[in-house]
Amino acid sequence: MIGIAIDGPAGAGKSYLARTVAKRLGYIYVDTGALYRTVALAMAERSVDIADAEAVVAQLSTVSVTLDYAEDGSQHVYLNGRDVSSEIRMPEISMGASRVSAIPGVRSFLLDLQRNMAATHNVVMDGRDIGTVILPHADVKIFLCANERARAKRRYLELCEKGVQTTLEAVESEMLARDRNDSTRKVAPAVPAADAVILDNSDLDREGTVEAALAIIADKLA
Ligand code: DC
Repeated sequence: MIGIAIDGPAGAGKSYLARTVAKRLGYIYVDTGALYRTVALAMAERSVDIADAEAVVAQLSTVSVTLDYAEDGSQHVYLNGRDVSSEIRMPEISMGASRVSAIPGVRSFLLDLQRNMAATHNVVMDGRDIGTVILPHADVKIFLCANERARAKRRYLELCEKGVQTTLEAVESEMLARDRNDSTRKVAPAVPAADAVILDNSDLDREGTVEAALAIIADKLA
């Protein structure tokens, strides 16, 4: 099986890139952020204090997170059998996901699901620790990044398209707080793997980013 890892901070365009590359190559796209978002949603629905790691971990025996794929290749994520793919995109779930993802018990809870997907399919997997922890032997590792303003603008426009009322400043400060959380946590911090190719797309559009990534992939798989 071939594994392509795409890691990087929020708003770098990982999901568009991973989804598009997966489609072009005929691989499955695994959006691992959706898994942490689903755990965060479960905790919010159960009114669990996510600052209390023990309380969060105690819930996990009654939380089931599963994935499947629609005919168009889009990933659907289920919380105890309920499709929560749209709900987990709410901005308030983003910070919750970042906070639960710093809990080691949550990371180990989601580890097998991610590794099993890669063991049974050719995958393009995006996240924060795919190249460092989940698939340390991935065939290709790309760390996608862009400057803060560019990332905040992209995330802001994405939310506007979905009809979410917010401001560029609010999006930027939430995004930076989340990045700080994700890159400084003790377990699986969001840092590039030593053998990752760094792709800075601050000055590239979506198609330019896809072309640059496909060139890296072709080179690595050659
Ligand atoms: O990619 P995203 O914005 O949907 O991810 C939501 C949060 O989940 C992110 O802030 C950190 C966490 N996450 C993680 O810790 N490891 C991953 N592989 C993917 C996401």
